[in-house]
Amino acid sequence: MPAKGVELAVTADVVIAGGGVIGTAIAWRAAQAGLDVTLVDPERGDAASLVAAGMLAPVSEALFGEGALLRVNLLAVARFGLFAAELEEAAGHQVGLRREGTLAVAYDPGDYAALVRLTAFRRSAGLDAEELDSRACRKLESFLTPDVHGGVLFAADWSVDNRRYTAALRAAAARAGVRVVRDRVTEVLTRDDGAAGGRVAGVRLADGGDIGADRVVVAAGCWTGTITGVPASARAAVRPVKGQLLRLRHPRGMPPVITHTIRATVRGADVYLVPRADGEVVVGATSEERGPDRTVTAGAVHDLLRDAMSVLPVTSELELAETCAGLRPGTPDNGPVVGEAGPDGLLLATGHYRNGILMSPVTADAIAARLAGQAAAPEWEPFAPGRFDTEGVR
Ligand code: FAD
Ligand code: GLY
Repeated sequence: MPAKGVELAVTADVVIAGGGVIGTAIAWRAAQAGLDVTLVDPERGDAASLVAAGMLAPVSEALFGEGALLRVNLLAVARFGLFAAELEEAAGHQVGLRREGTLAVAYDPGDYAALVRLTAFRRSAGLDAEELDSRACRKLESFLTPDVHGGVLFAADWSVDNRRYTAALRAAAARAGVRVVRDRVTEVLTRDDGAAGGRVAGVRLADGGDIGADRVVVAAGCWTGTITGVPASARAAVRPVKGQLLRLRHPRGMPPVITHTIRATVRGADVYLVPRADGEVVVGATSEERGPDRTVTAGAVHDLLRDAMSVLPVTSELELAETCAGLRPGTPDNGPVVGEAGPDGLLLATGHYRNGILMSPVTADAIAARLAGQAAAPEWEPFAPGRFDTEGVR
């Protein structure tokens, strides 16, 4: 139960629960705006932000029925370049931004028919897409198998090295004066100020200590539901969606095997390959409803490598550097949960599912605006936490 009526000495203007890309980007922005910020994270190394592929892909990730999500993702990619430049300056190192676009390829005629249908939908939403035959695909990526049936170039997609990006956010936040507490928030504390739901008083930590603050931002990814005091509807809405992923490396001296992100559909199964400047190729990912399980399975590694090698046989020459699994914070409508919730002073920034790296700058903008008493961009309206309160998903 939230501790109603507690009076805590205010020790921060804002406490942020969660130090993945979302919480850290918010912390950096809030500190830059002059707020006294404390970020709490147990730093167990299990953040989805460290596992992700780093695609900034509003176009090739646009799916039927996700128009509102597409609009916020387009805002996000338009914002990413300037945000990344400012971040590199503040952190003192590069984040590995790439602008080559995504080449979506289809292995057989059935895969191609599905890609063409999706491309028609994306075009109808005003997105750029160039259909290519097999030969034209291989002109862009010479190691693709001649068996590829055809493809589509989505030139507006980018990617970033999510690990370099997360490290840069942490460095920039530290330089801006954000304090980091290595602990877990168990509860958002409130006090009774006469208003319905009360007002935020701070947070309780797993070690038993409290931090007082007038504003609390919960950015705990798929673990949002573990924090008492977050409205029950929002806690119930966020669930873990497991993704297994591989990191391959070019052997010393071998030139890069791809320059675009490649998304392939191979006999109905999806696989992506994302190149990095340092010679890494990220291959992902599964999407599994298995609760908090993060086991890497032999079957998933096999399937990802089989599908990657079907379209890009040279993948077999790369070193298998790492296998990993992360938990996407999924929601019933696949959309993020961003804005005020419950007691005055409580903000949520969670549920970013497949696009949290992409959406981190615009989420930080939206929460920083709220903390300054301003409105967020209109693209956020469909993603208010209250949409799960009584009427279910709209
Ligand atoms: P996380 O990164 O999970 O961070 C949450 C943090 O909260 C963690 O550090 C955790 O320790 C902390 N925490 C948990 N409980 C508490 C507590 N009680 N108190 C305090 N702290 C707590 N997105 C893209 O944009 N592009 C991609 O290409 C992409 N690929 C992906 C591939 C895979 C396989 C996966 C799994 C995800 C991918 N994503 C991608 C999604 C993206 O990783 C997530 O949407 C994003 O990382 C969510 O960030 P977050 O900060 O909300 O959560
Ligand atoms: N956005 C890629 C993934 O979630 O796997």
